[in-house]
Amino acid sequence: MNILVIGNGGREAAMVRALLLAEDSRTQCKNTVHVSPHSILKDVVSSQVSPQNHSAILTYIRTHHIELVVVGPELPLWEGLSDFLRAQNILVFGPSKAGAELECSKLFCKHFLNQAGIPTSAFTEVFSELDVLEKSTSFSPPWVVKVDGLAAGKGVYICQSPEELKLAAKDIFADLKLGSQRAFLEKFIPGKELSYLVLTNGKAFQTLPIAQDHKRIYAGDKGPNTGGMGTVAPLEISPTLEHSIQTRIVEPFLLELQKQKIDYRGVLYFGIIVQDHQPYVLEINARFGDPEAQVILPLIKNNMTDVFFQIAQGKLPTIECTSQFASCVVLAAPGYPDAPEKNLSITGDIFEVQDQAYALPAGVAASPQGLKTSGGRVLNVIGLASTAEDSLQQAYAAAKKISWKGLQYRSDIGQKVLNPDGSNFIFERTEKDS
Ligand code: GLY
Repeated sequence: MNILVIGNGGREAAMVRALLLAEDSRTQCKNTVHVSPHSILKDVVSSQVSPQNHSAILTYIRTHHIELVVVGPELPLWEGLSDFLRAQNILVFGPSKAGAELECSKLFCKHFLNQAGIPTSAFTEVFSELDVLEKSTSFSPPWVVKVDGLAAGKGVYICQSPEELKLAAKDIFADLKLGSQRAFLEKFIPGKELSYLVLTNGKAFQTLPIAQDHKRIYAGDKGPNTGGMGTVAPLEISPTLEHSIQTRIVEPFLLELQKQKIDYRGVLYFGIIVQDHQPYVLEINARFGDPEAQVILPLIKNNMTDVFFQIAQGKLPTIECTSQFASCVVLAAPGYPDAPEKNLSITGDIFEVQDQAYALPAGVAASPQGLKTSGGRVLNVIGLASTAEDSLQQAYAAAKKISWKGLQYRSDIGQKVLNPDGSNFIFERTEKDS
């Protein structure tokens, strides 16, 4: 099958890998995978067409006899690429613009969650610097201020003191640092975070292995937020908690999608915080997480071509997973996340593929002198094994063979899930589970 993958980051590299490993079950032939915009991945056709140019993408699809389009990032979804292509009878894995709005407008998402009766923290919209300070008296610190719209991971302020809150309000309303002036104050919920992703046709869902991300740049959850510095999966949680997530969050979410007539064929990513055994939605993403996809996809047994193809058709295959564990360690450029240094020479066994460990490019460019860094998160090193601990060892051993000047990575990925007894239950069982 000729497949076009939109996006060329680490998440899309993981999707491409899954598609290259799976054959087209109708013909038993290997897929030809095209990537737009351009890719350094081996064994793919690198398209130079920008996904923002819808008519150029359509021409590319027709010229190359593409049968399926798989959209990785949120931006093309929000720009309506799926709707545009579906109107031309092209099969697309990825939600409609209205579905992507759930990620791209945090305010729309909060209202949607409230309409569906889904647990999430209390919030109030704020309209000016003064309004932030006045309304903050109804919340106890730390104060959370969220800016509406796509802010490249920078739209959330967690303020410990009134001074920090004032600075956040100034950033948003006086200095217009985030672009949007739509913002809200939200009650802070302390707890443990997990990434709960499901595949859905908008009506039913199939659960994917639960992942744990590591958002801060430094070990011990210190330093600024990033897109994610590493992941482990599957995270085992108590059956009671899983039941609560499905019945109190996922099922009402799908009902609300149907009520609002939102066409949703793709991945739904619930960013969940667990407090006192109760799950609350922190955020919704309309796509695979990055680097969650890097650990979830290798754990799925199904032929991923069939999975994406069927969901694009509005069907939903049953998902089966291996009993393995996967870990991903993100190798980042110096200066990430604020000002990543580019054009640094990469050395080492970069794409030497082994069964148990391999690297996928995220921010890498090819040059006549060899591979260079071209983004903040440069490479993802993935380890697979029968225990979480061994998968981490595989990933770290492979990561140590790669270098560039100032390379940074977290040394503590997965530590929270490694209990002394070797199990990875980070959420205690309740009496109801026994
Ligand atoms: N890893 C978090 C995200 O993809 O948004």
